[in-house]
Amino acid sequence: MRHLMSPLDFTVEELEHLMDLATDIEHHRDAYAHICDGKKIATLFYEPSTRTRLSFETAMLNLGGSVIGFSSAASSSAAKGESVSDTIRMVSCYADICAMRHPKEGAPLVASEKSRIPVINAGDGGHQHPTQTITDLHTIRSLKGRLTNLTIGLCGDLKFGRTVHSLIHALARYENISFILISPDELRIPDYIREEVLDARQIPYKEVSNLDDVMNEMDILYMTRVQRERFFNEEEYIRLKDCYILDAAKMSLAKDDMLVLHPLPRVNEISTEVDDDPRAVYFQQVQYGVYARMALILILLQLDPLAAS
Ligand code: NCD
Repeated sequence: MRHLMSPLDFTVEELEHLMDLATDIEHHRDAYAHICDGKKIATLFYEPSTRTRLSFETAMLNLGGSVIGFSSAASSSAAKGESVSDTIRMVSCYADICAMRHPKEGAPLVASEKSRIPVINAGDGGHQHPTQTITDLHTIRSLKGRLTNLTIGLCGDLKFGRTVHSLIHALARYENISFILISPDELRIPDYIREEVLDARQIPYKEVSNLDDVMNEMDILYMTRVQRERFFNEEEYIRLKDCYILDAAKMSLAKDDMLVLHPLPRVNEISTEVDDDPRAVYFQQVQYGVYARMALILILLQLDPLAAS
């Protein structure tokens, strides 16, 4: 039985296969409409979410399966003091697969150790968010045609943004990738990612604080929200929250084929005037996320019709 805790749990080849499957699903929706008949996904969300939870639920419903779960710690037995390990043992009796989001780093990993069903990390604190990364990779591959030879700008809260951490881990495995890390000093990428991923793999990168200066260098601009819920101090959040606002003037400095991604939710960091720019693909990204999660569910349930037999 396999779980998904980090994007690195899948090899590059396995991820390629997952994305091929996601593309096949996109083009043959009817062929997949009943593949999970009778199966259930449990979405155990101890932290707020709109997209990710609904994306998992939509993915399972699209496959013919059904959904159980909770959308906040307050509405689950966690409020009574139940441990994640006990919850997953119980859920293993109800569902065939589960997606868990938790504010504590490592909670889904703890759950996976006691689980009888595959556990998917749907975001653990400021740590990792592997299914967002699979979504991001699939979006880039579908719209750019490649995951190699790219200059990728990551902008905003690089310290607390788990989507950024997972994406750097995953993209660092592809050929000829370089990163431009755009953040205020206070929100720079954590040292462990700089040392264990970028330096260890000798990936070219630079850290800058001015977005305008690098707009024309990027193939992908990945914008992120300042992660208010992970700040210790509200004043610090207020000081930093609008540090970058992508607007039409900035977009005019970018390459004609640069893509703007964002894991969403957006707060102020992308002006709504950018939404109509054909390079803004953050809502398409949401759709690609459903196909990618459908493919992931099939693989983890060993129902992948494209698997080599
Ligand atoms: C992200 C998350 O939860 O980390 N959202 C998402 O899953 N699409 C990004 C964020 O909350 O800023």
